[in-house]
Amino acid sequence: MLCLGIESSCDETALALVADGCLLDSVLASQTDIHALFGGVVPELASREHCRSIGPLFDELLRRAGILPEQIDVVAAARGPGLLGSLLVGVSFAKTLALTIDAKFIGINHLHAHLLAVGLEHDFSLPAIGLLVSGGHTHLYLIRGTTEFHLLGGTLDDAAGEAFDKVGKMLGLPYPCGRTIDALANAGVADPGLFPRPYLRNDNLDFSFSGLKTAALTALRAFPELEKRNEKPDGHLPAPGPDDAPNALKNFCASFNLAVVDTLCAKTERALAAYPDIHELLLAGGVAANKLLRKRMGELMRRRGGRALSPSPALCTDNAAMIAYTAWLLTGEALCHDLRMETIPKGRSIPDDMQRTGNPRADITKGGPRREPPNLSVE
Ligand code: KG4
Ligand code: ZN
Repeated sequence: MLCLGIESSCDETALALVADGCLLDSVLASQTDIHALFGGVVPELASREHCRSIGPLFDELLRRAGILPEQIDVVAAARGPGLLGSLLVGVSFAKTLALTIDAKFIGINHLHAHLLAVGLEHDFSLPAIGLLVSGGHTHLYLIRGTTEFHLLGGTLDDAAGEAFDKVGKMLGLPYPCGRTIDALANAGVADPGLFPRPYLRNDNLDFSFSGLKTAALTALRAFPELEKRNEKPDGHLPAPGPDDAPNALKNFCASFNLAVVDTLCAKTERALAAYPDIHELLLAGGVAANKLLRKRMGELMRRRGGRALSPSPALCTDNAAMIAYTAWLLTGEALCHDLRMETIPKGRSIPDDMQRTGNPRADITKGGPRREPPNLSVE
């Protein structure tokens, strides 16, 4: 079964083809350079860029994969959460295409797709604990099935990625800053006492990262040479590499990185303690590309006799392979949407409104049934 996935929830226009659960090919147009000039994503510009890119990207993907539109069985698009104007570009394109080529249509929860994308590269089993850490979200889930995501905790203010981006901005680093801070942190020496581990003195699974911003502003006063970096407009300074960055900057990044990672690990460990029978941790979202976070989560799970599974870094940030793969999982369970499906912006909950189509897969696959999806039944 051939699934086309479309991702346009924020500032990446991406399309991918997944055939029988395997990634066939993908294309992506990043708007990072455009938004970097403003230090963050400008919604109107993002929608306009998606409109400009999506048609040519679709042509390029099909040409590269040697596929005709009519061979696509399922067209999927991220339906939310995200920027409404951006999401609408991808969803409208997907609905129109599905109608034209007589394919099934399905709208995908962008957050669930981030976590389920682990299945593109690893065999995983459910139930699992999921930690989604991105620019807009920091969510801890109990995942019982492909459509059963129970939110255990989330951020009360800034998301983990947002904390990286805001502190990076203070340091005059180009947006988005997480990757640069990660690289600089790895070349620096962390001072474990420089930053607090916020919002741990409670018994819940929520996060609060906004205090780290204030702590970073205060800490910066002790490093006037770092404070000065912020005087130039954001996005105009090239990202310093580990070889040319001053030690003070590398050490500051290492300390901040450690504080965020410690905090994420502490709450994840707390969630795992509440579900002692769960031995699988799925880690996804842009911040899951962070080297220290991946290492520490791996160690944490090994100590518990389990596994931390994460997509490779390129599949941690926004991509369409995760949308196409999730569509493959869900349509394999005979789920889809009709063309009335609503697009859901950030801040509104995504309704459970998928429809059962009857006989899974055999119904959908134009070329006949092929590889079966993994058995994700709950033990
Ligand atoms: O998942 P994503 O691509 O987009 C959203 O859905 O938000 O995540 C983007 C976020 C940005 O805040 C970026 O700074 C952060 O992920 N990020 C990282 C790393 N790579 C990207 N944060 C920490 N370490 C990284 N290596
Ligand atoms: Zn995302």
